[in-house]
Amino acid sequence: MIIVKKKFFITTPIYYVNSEPHIGTAYTTIAADVIARWHRLKDEDVFFLTGTDEHGEKIEQTAQAAGKPPKKFCDEISKKFKDSWKVLNISYDHFIRTTDEYHVKAVEKMLKTLRDMGYIYKGTYQGLYCVGCERYRTESELVDGKCPDHLKKPELRNEESYFFSLSKFHNILYQKINHDDIIIKPDARKNEILSFLENNKLEDISISRAKVKWGIKIPWDETQTTYVWIDAFLNYVTGIGWPNKRFEKYWPADLHLIGKDILRVHATIWPAQLLAIGLKAPKKFFAHGYFTIDGQKMSKTLGNVVDPVKLSEEYSVDAVRYYLIREFPFGEDGNFSEHEFIHKINGELADDLGNLLYRVLTMVEKFKGKIDGQPELNQHLHLDEIEHYMENLELHRAVETIWEFIRATNKYINQKEPWKLEGEDLGNVLYNLLESCRIIGILISPFMPETAEKINRQFGVKPGSLEDCKFGKFVGKVKKGEYLFKKVDIKI
Ligand code: MSP
Repeated sequence: MIIVKKKFFITTPIYYVNSEPHIGTAYTTIAADVIARWHRLKDEDVFFLTGTDEHGEKIEQTAQAAGKPPKKFCDEISKKFKDSWKVLNISYDHFIRTTDEYHVKAVEKMLKTLRDMGYIYKGTYQGLYCVGCERYRTESELVDGKCPDHLKKPELRNEESYFFSLSKFHNILYQKINHDDIIIKPDARKNEILSFLENNKLEDISISRAKVKWGIKIPWDETQTTYVWIDAFLNYVTGIGWPNKRFEKYWPADLHLIGKDILRVHATIWPAQLLAIGLKAPKKFFAHGYFTIDGQKMSKTLGNVVDPVKLSEEYSVDAVRYYLIREFPFGEDGNFSEHEFIHKINGELADDLGNLLYRVLTMVEKFKGKIDGQPELNQHLHLDEIEHYMENLELHRAVETIWEFIRATNKYINQKEPWKLEGEDLGNVLYNLLESCRIIGILISPFMPETAEKINRQFGVKPGSLEDCKFGKFVGKVKKGEYLFKKVDIKI
């Protein structure tokens, strides 16, 4: 019998190369990695896609300011993303660049198809264009006549352009989102989108630019280049092979993970583009919150942009991954503070987890008897709860529940006082501790893959799956290694 694995296709936004990877883009990517690894633990056929968004006016300008041809500039920054994701242990299956030839060809095909089907027409667009945002902004979005993100007055532009008939999809999008054919999570974000659609009629959007050189040429009109979002969205299907049939293996996406800043464009333009050419809409969007740095918005001007690679070099990759997921509820806004970060390393990582493993390994190495017994700690392992939280993308709660088990295991040591025991009694306690630690190693692996590997090595066990998270016979061969997490001095 051939067992077909359940597929799980997850994506991150593709990041603009006009800024280098920072803690914000790392946050989305780490969260996606945690989710991808969790689904692999469940033995699903996972495809995890990420990449870089490289066309458009802003990138052209940034390259120019750096004195580099745009492609060379993109190559360099795109590589920085790849390098950073390597350091952060991101297990993507494919890294797409919108300058990749297969992607460019596919965008051309999509445009031609949309045109053949009557969804693209020529018109004149007049609007307030913010170069920083690379898009026209509506009057209502401006604050004191200025773009709220770039604090600059947008330019009034009048240009010939091609339009996509987005307005035709207003009703169907509303229905699909309302009925969860396209799921938007958290619920508050779904309501935001629905009320936006109730109060505004979707308008046709301009999908080409006459004055932008750095982009994909409109296939039937060399004087125009494709608007960056139309080009960018398509990565979600070209990255798995579209227009080649093989993309059907993973499409529709099970989860588009994005920041809240780009939810509205995602939830409207992207499914409309797909429905127009007869493809299925994605199953789910999850928009997570934004975080500030010590209470302030992260910005180059403020000089408070946090580099995730430097942070990892200083404190370890897994500490960074852990902190970002653990610190605040997934989906809500939060704050990054180095002080809090160190606090978590010393408390939850060094004391709760690191110390537990070290204590257990020390006792086991000394013990000469038979390690076997009855499961006693399994009652503290709430696997169903962890699974439920992971499915709901309440990642912080899943971590909390794993930590409850870690704390229960520590408490068990204090209660049983194994240093006072010997023989079978000690063998039984050590059996419980070893099995708990082995299971902890599996459960933390999506969050802290490197630590999980170290645990496997020190406990002499193979990497397990979710199926293995139950008390059985301990079959490892223990060999104590270094402490998993060192304490860090609190900086004043
Ligand atoms: N290129 C577009 C996306 C196209 S997807 C088809 C884009 N790129 S971006 O480089 O600006 O990345 C935006 C994403 O970065 C956000 O949606 C979010 O995932 C992440 N973040 C950037 N700053 C962040 C914070 N301060 N906090 C949390 N996430 C942040 O938009």
